[in-house]
Amino acid sequence: MCERSQGNITCLELDAIGNAANEMLRGGGGVDGAIHDAAGRELLRECQTLGGCATGDAKITGGYRLPAKHVIHTVGPIGEHPEALESCYLRSLEVLVENKLRSIAFPSISTGVYGYPIEAATDVALRTVRRWLEVPGNCNLVERIVFCVFSNRDLSVYQAKIPHYFPI
Ligand code: APR
Repeated sequence: MCERSQGNITCLELDAIGNAANEMLRGGGGVDGAIHDAAGRELLRECQTLGGCATGDAKITGGYRLPAKHVIHTVGPIGEHPEALESCYLRSLEVLVENKLRSIAFPSISTGVYGYPIEAATDVALRTVRRWLEVPGNCNLVERIVFCVFSNRDLSVYQAKIPHYFPI
């Protein structure tokens, strides 16, 4: 159910991809920029109707020209704030199931421009998703949760930590 994938999240054909957005939902650099570039201007137009997004919250839009049907935008903390980062993953999963969607890929939220150290952020991401899946009933609500990492460095961190949180 949980997978690791390296590469560009904008290429993934899933019900939803996660976006590491900003509170204005205005687009930006990093994964946010890549998602907006690939989705087209209509994505920004829909984002502008949402009234922003608080840190730790998540909001959904269409995927437009992306292969993914939807984008779930979440705003990670600036710096190392584990509760806010945990909330990003939890709220994204809540929004996913509220919309009756069954598959999502997460980027490594907050670990680029927002400066969350990758090792600590990976522990939060993996632990939060693992615990969410252990809540009775949640496991049946989703088919695939993908952790999509971009750099070789991030890949090696996820590869080292995944067996601890998701032993075979
Ligand atoms: N696919 C998957 N992951 C990607 C991609 C991509 N196409 N591009 C970048 N990444 C990875 C980065 O390598 C990093 O590990 O996404 C992770 C998150 O980095 P950022 O995109 O910088 O996101 P974040 O640290 O949460 O900062 C958010 O950046 O661009 C702005 O609008 C955004 O202001 C917000 C801030």
